[in-house]
Amino acid sequence: MSVKIQASPNVVSASASSDVQSTGQASRAAALDLLQAGIERRGGFDEALGRAPFNRLPVRDRAFARALASTTLRRLGVIDRLLAPKLQRAPPTLVMNLLRLGAAQLLYMDTPAHAAVSTIVDAAKAERDSRPFKGMINAVLRGLERDRADPVKAQAISDVAPATYAPEWLFNRWRAAFGEATAMAIAARIPEEPGTDLSLRDPADATELALALDAEILPGGSLRTQRRGDVTEWPAFEAGRWWVQDAAAAIPARLLDVQPGERVLDLCAAPGGKTLQLAVAGGIVTAVDRAASRMGRLTENLERMGLSAEIVAADAGDWADDRLFDAVLLDAPCTATGTFRRHPDVLWAAKATDLAKLATLQARLLDSAAQRVRPGGRLVYCVCSLEPEEGEAQMRAFLDRHSAFRLLPVAEGAAGAPARSLTFDGALRIHPGLETPAGAMDGFFAARFVRSESI
Ligand SMILES: C[S@@+](CC[C@H](N)C(=O)[O-])C[C@H]1O[C@@H](n2cnc3c(N)ncnc32)[C@H](O)[C@@H]1O
Repeated sequence: MSVKIQASPNVVSASASSDVQSTGQASRAAALDLLQAGIERRGGFDEALGRAPFNRLPVRDRAFARALASTTLRRLGVIDRLLAPKLQRAPPTLVMNLLRLGAAQLLYMDTPAHAAVSTIVDAAKAERDSRPFKGMINAVLRGLERDRADPVKAQAISDVAPATYAPEWLFNRWRAAFGEATAMAIAARIPEEPGTDLSLRDPADATELALALDAEILPGGSLRTQRRGDVTEWPAFEAGRWWVQDAAAAIPARLLDVQPGERVLDLCAAPGGKTLQLAVAGGIVTAVDRAASRMGRLTENLERMGLSAEIVAADAGDWADDRLFDAVLLDAPCTATGTFRRHPDVLWAAKATDLAKLATLQARLLDSAAQRVRPGGRLVYCVCSLEPEEGEAQMRAFLDRHSAFRLLPVAEGAAGAPARSLTFDGALRIHPGLETPAGAMDGFFAARFVRSESI
């Protein structure tokens, strides 16, 4: 029998033959592992990309596995609500995740219904713990397919309130922090697949590279392309003329306004998008990160760009070094909830208990960063989080603890920051719900401080 599995538009389609069936099974097993790891813990999705079964897949099947897991994560809030009335009691996690993958294929990936159901039932048969549930999985997914074919029920599937896309506790936090309309605008971005943003080695190349990469030039100088696939194949990658970096992530390093020859410290630097910006600006950069393994990417990128930086694998909180720097950037570890457009797993992996621990770490790292700023020097603190405890509250508490520092307000529209991202005290609160001419950006908080000359 010939089965054609139609994947989403940017995804490889598998077709026919038992070979392909088993390849399809391997892809689904990998998608299941990505999904489980992505929901379980922060960073789990990325870890799963680096191990079997995902990294044993032939390259052509990786795109499908990743797209299936990502689509499921982008739609998880809705999928769980659609599945709930069909389940008499909560099934084991493995079975729930198989149902979620099946639902994502049925509803959002144009997989023919019979293939979406049969491949998930086959995947259930392959695992001892899910085997007893294969009948239930079959029945639930067929029920979902019938709903989709029914005009009234199909309407309920497609008319989704944006809040449904986010975990309830996170949506409630966003509503409390930003108000109902903004929380809705943020959540509405969750199902959207973003384009790829690029930062340039030489800003003067913007027009030429925008043409070559079918990209538009964004206000801060980043390029945005709707291209998909392997970036290493794109024009001018090998020549080191650009690197991948979300347009919002490129803003904090610009706020430091590094001048050629300045000594610059980049704390929590890996994988190094901001280090590259600081080096391109002409800074003599020291990049510190505790994860030596993540520094490999940074070293590769520096080499590809023909740039250099001092690379230090150390805890930024107790790095034994007494140099003072003209400018210090701290891109602190955080819940990363602002990055859900590219990493939808962060929505489900973030736990309320993480916030307090991360806020304590952020304050410790900020105190350490402050000690390394020369009198008269600048400090930028940023996080890719939407949570005020990691952004606005850190800024205020830092100013209370450090009388030698004052806020150096950012000007409206500076550094490519979108309109309405400036806070009343001159920090930046960027969130994916902000309307910009080019579409959405990741969420970021950034504050710039200056150390007094005299203390
Ligand atoms: C938000 S990411 C940094 C992204 C990076 N600045 C960039 O632009 O590509 C946070 C980084 O903090 C690092 N990190 C976490 N705790 C740390 C610590 N105590 N000392 C140094 N680095 C730490 C993590 O390894 C991770 O690479």
